[in-house]
Amino acid sequence: MRYYPVFLDLEAKTVVIVGGGAEAAQKLRLMAKTPARIVVITPFAERELSTEIDAAGACLISRDFDADDLHGAALVFACGLDEADEALVHAAATERNIQINVVDKQDKCSFLTPSIVDRGSLTIAIGTEGAAPVLGQGIKAHLEAMLPPSIGSLVDKASALRPRVARALDKGSPRRDFWRSFFFGDIRSAFDRDPEAGFEQSVDDALSGDKRETTGSVSLVGAGPGDADLLTLKAQRRLLDADVIVYDRLVGPGVLEYARRDAERIDVGKAPGKLSVSQTRINDILIEHASAGKRVVRLKGGDPYVFGRGGEEQAALVAAGIPVDVVPGITAAVACAAEIRLPLTWRGENRSFTVMTGTAGDGAADHDWAALAKPGAAFSIYMGVRQAGHIQRKLLGAGIAEDTPVVVVENGTRPDQKTAVGTIATLTRTLALGAIKGPAIIYVGLDPARSDVLDAQIETQAAAEERIAS
Ligand SMILES: C[S@@+](CC[C@H](N)C(=O)[O-])C[C@H]1O[C@@H](n2cnc3c(N)ncnc32)[C@H](O)[C@@H]1O
Repeated sequence: MRYYPVFLDLEAKTVVIVGGGAEAAQKLRLMAKTPARIVVITPFAERELSTEIDAAGACLISRDFDADDLHGAALVFACGLDEADEALVHAAATERNIQINVVDKQDKCSFLTPSIVDRGSLTIAIGTEGAAPVLGQGIKAHLEAMLPPSIGSLVDKASALRPRVARALDKGSPRRDFWRSFFFGDIRSAFDRDPEAGFEQSVDDALSGDKRETTGSVSLVGAGPGDADLLTLKAQRRLLDADVIVYDRLVGPGVLEYARRDAERIDVGKAPGKLSVSQTRINDILIEHASAGKRVVRLKGGDPYVFGRGGEEQAALVAAGIPVDVVPGITAAVACAAEIRLPLTWRGENRSFTVMTGTAGDGAADHDWAALAKPGAAFSIYMGVRQAGHIQRKLLGAGIAEDTPVVVVENGTRPDQKTAVGTIATLTRTLALGAIKGPAIIYVGLDPARSDVLDAQIETQAAAEERIAS
């Protein structure tokens, strides 16, 4: 470790930035997060820099650099200067023992600027000694995904609480246990659910020694359509915090990689037509684990509230007095459309887009077929493959135009994704020709020609239809 990391107190200190372009603007943006007095020296400030100077309330000296400008400075940045000016600034700083950073010239730097994760009082600096800044930025992005912006305010609360904790709890393990619970346990969970009243209550309980039975919690988390990259940051964080994960069949395998290795995983996958764990049993599993003080994630494909029975689980948990929160996920109809680049609405053509299920209980779902058959209607059918014949008959019976386009996406966003294109008149044949078995979304009323990646399917379908006709 050649460079030793330290955190500098820049309160009432002066930072000098020499330069007038984008590099100077970038350093100014960084320094503006500190309480330092910032002085920018340049005969000409480009527009981006001028905006940053105004935003930061920095002082601009509009002329060439003079060595005396460094009088009283704590840090100096030389940004995008020509060699002669750079040498001047470097010499002035070195003579006065002032720490200097010359942008992109590591050999002229007495300090380097790290990649920074800024969460208020929690600051993480990542350095690669100048060797791999892109790696540093990648690590920063990972850490940012793990640390919600609210963690900074948790640290502020910790700072305000320190004297009270010192009065209430003995040194050693009582205090250590409190802080462990504060940052990683029940108090943190209470903060995530309700950073005000719920959090205060849980701190009061812990400090008064009021040993209530620890309650766990359940997060109903949407895992998206399969591709783990489509998880939200909040879903990733809930997975990382979970003691128990109760997951469905449609949760993509990569998604569980975000869970802690020691988290218990319970598969309650319901495959269509196969014996599965009943909804009542799933509710019981969630309640049992949360009542034992565990942080439970109920991980569901897509979004928990879209044909996911999230509402029923929520009601059962609320009735059992278990704290619940909900993390939305990208629902299949939205994700699959993006995957095949098929817009769900088109200005002037469809003013609504309906999301419906083909299955209700063990049979076909009933709908207002006349409304769905109207010209211009556009909709997506979940769980429609096994009921395709019924859906086709109902729509044709209600007078839908036979050439209304149909696009089908099976296993959308997964490596085994398949698509098929046809019309409502060919729906069952289109599914058979494409060997579509589900899980699939059937889009009706969306023109496949709007997509720029469905050409091959359109041609395959046309060729198949021709073969059948001849
Ligand atoms: C019980 S529903 C769950 C829907 C989920 N909650 C959502 O918001 O996407 C299951 C149906 O969603 C659709 N589905 C889920 N994931 C899919 C995917 N990756 N590709 C295509 N359809 C999918 C299929 O219609 C499947 O039968």
